[in-house]
Amino acid sequence: MRDDTTMTAWHEWQESPWGRLRYTLAETNLAKHLDGLDDGPLRILDLGGGDGADTVRLAERGHHVTIVDNAPEMLAAATRRAVGADVTERVTLIEADVTELPHDIADGRYDLVLCHNLLQYLDDTAAALARAVTALRPGGVLSVMAVNRHATPLNIAVRQADPTAALAALDTDRTRTVTFDTTMTLHTAEELGEILDRLGCPVTGHYGIRTICDYITDDERKHDPAFFADLERLELALTGRHPYMHTARLFQLIGRKHPG
Ligand SMILES: C[S@@+](CC[C@H](N)C(=O)[O-])C[C@H]1O[C@@H](n2cnc3c(N)ncnc32)[C@H](O)[C@@H]1O
Repeated sequence: MRDDTTMTAWHEWQESPWGRLRYTLAETNLAKHLDGLDDGPLRILDLGGGDGADTVRLAERGHHVTIVDNAPEMLAAATRRAVGADVTERVTLIEADVTELPHDIADGRYDLVLCHNLLQYLDDTAAALARAVTALRPGGVLSVMAVNRHATPLNIAVRQADPTAALAALDTDRTRTVTFDTTMTLHTAEELGEILDRLGCPVTGHYGIRTICDYITDDERKHDPAFFADLERLELALTGRHPYMHTARLFQLIGRKHPG
């Protein structure tokens, strides 16, 4: 259940410069991996798709997207977003827990499955990724975004200027979210990559989402359109570059399920 305050905080985050960067970077990275899938509209599953920010961008490109999310308020917001973009006929909303996917969703029919900023709220990462891969057709593409454990100590040291707290954060995979006021799990690209390998969906792309933005302490500056345009250009240049992706606030992994 998301109350009005949480939904307002979520929308404010999405509209913030750092929220907008997250969606632009993810969409740009994903586009590099869709060649070779069907030429026509793709069948896409957006697990924990929330209020449809990724979904509606994909539906606007002609694809058919199904969101599974267990928060009715998020799905109501997704409906409003789809109506606003005039893509309701290409968007399906299913209120369900991703740990208990309906059989017709888990049946290996999707060309692309998104699992963006969901894993941090689930208890069993490997089981969640296994369900995502099972929903993919052979040769299908998986996009996973998660909060980067490597970035947390750096972020605390730079943003809070608190070396002691940063030191403590080195060896924990738990933190609290501000927006949803809950505890969440931090991951690394290395550990998720190993799981995806075991699931027969090896990583074909590794990107950092916000490699620089979160280490700039002057948030006011990020609202200046000229500064933001420069920052966005820099983030787009760094998202796939070593070593920057390893300390980005979030990471995005693209996997490709074995063809048969
Ligand atoms: C941080 S939001 C991300 C939404 C969207 N993927 C995005 O990146 O814009 C996390 C979403 O996961 C959903 N969620 C969390 N646990 C879930 C579960 N067990 N089953 C289904 N949805 C879940 C929440 O309701 C929320 O909409």
